[in-house]
Amino acid sequence: MNKKIAVLPGDGIGREVAKGAVSVLQAVGERFGHQFSFTFAGIGGSAIQASGTPLPQETVEICRKSDAVLLGAVGGPKWDHLPGHLRPEKGLLGIRKELNLYANLRPVHYYSSISETSPLRKEVIEGADMLVVRELTGGLYFGKPSGRSRKNGEDSVVDTLFYKKEEMDRVIRLAFRLAEKRRGKVTSVDKANVLESSRMWRETAEEIGREFPHVKLEHMLVDNAAMQMIKAPRQFDVIVTENMFGDILSDEASVLTGSLGMLPSASLSENGPYLYEPIHGSAPDIEGKDTANPIAMILSAAMMLRISFGMEEEAKAIENAVKQVLDAGCRTVDIVPFGRRPIGTAEMIEEIKATILDNEAIL
Ligand code: NAD
Ligand code: IPM
Ligand code: MN
Repeated sequence: MNKKIAVLPGDGIGREVAKGAVSVLQAVGERFGHQFSFTFAGIGGSAIQASGTPLPQETVEICRKSDAVLLGAVGGPKWDHLPGHLRPEKGLLGIRKELNLYANLRPVHYYSSISETSPLRKEVIEGADMLVVRELTGGLYFGKPSGRSRKNGEDSVVDTLFYKKEEMDRVIRLAFRLAEKRRGKVTSVDKANVLESSRMWRETAEEIGREFPHVKLEHMLVDNAAMQMIKAPRQFDVIVTENMFGDILSDEASVLTGSLGMLPSASLSENGPYLYEPIHGSAPDIEGKDTANPIAMILSAAMMLRISFGMEEEAKAIENAVKQVLDAGCRTVDIVPFGRRPIGTAEMIEEIKATILDNEAIL
């Protein structure tokens, strides 16, 4: 197959891990006889530097003309002084909105070979496997009005949590469809004891739940969910929640896998193209040190192969290569047990690539 992929490396370690995903995809192309063509485009701080805006129009057009989009990460201290509408993060929010990527799928898979890097005991996390479905184009991130006011000497701010029922409906419905193919349970997370938006969310989840009698629906308040995820993570199958709760809970969930550097994601729309990105950020604290874990980004590329291109075998090849490399003891510093030598970002990428190219037992 021939596929056009837009690559938006962004900033910090986003650039280091995006490079890794591209080279792993080249290995997949070589092994399976596919032609992947990559078009690189700017986003975030590096785009501000190059063209004065975090989301150049050209980037949006390149994404629209592609079969799928891969994104590294955006942001960094260099741009933290800028006003909200000019920050790197605005580029990321902008591309999500432009491509109407309303559902962000964040699978949390536990690898037994790195169980010792999780702060939780093995008995607690063993077998945990959940999917966080995060609403991605609504809620506090996009509600208007938003901003700062200094009228009449006042110093006040406003962020608006706004949702239309249809925005809730489509993402919750998707969560139910995904749960049907998994273990048949949806946990809808909200703050219905306080927020009007959450009461509508809960009502919508109830309505959709009636259309899926074989899926068990449970409601959980977000503060309790944050606690339950650490206390008893195996209880969760699909979690569906609004934008900001999903952002926070998925970083928390990444700890179950051992590191934030392990968690991929897929952002879906009605008609595509879809966007794939790790859930972590640009990690300025480790930028340029060749210590970032590229696995979250590489697993995002696997999600792209499966979801956007229907390449199940190829996606499995990447996932199996990651598993084999971890089983063989290769570790970046974020997942290395005490006393063992870590390998660098580039070496981890090479190990995964070599496994895809050379290992007969990859499929
Ligand atoms: P972060 O996710 O960048 O980093 C949090 C911590 O996790 C850091 O200690 C970092 O070193 C570590 N970490 C993250 N990814 C890692 C990886 N692949 N391997 C090893 N360690 C990893 O979050 P932050 O520090 O709160 O934010 C830094 C910048 O990134 C901010 O500008 C923020 O806005 C941005 N950000 C961007 C995205 C995105 O582009 N999707 C996501 C989150 C944060
Ligand atoms: C993420 C990030 C972004 C978000 C930021 C950088 C806008 O934290 O992708 O999880 O909050 O959505
Ligand atoms: Mn986040």
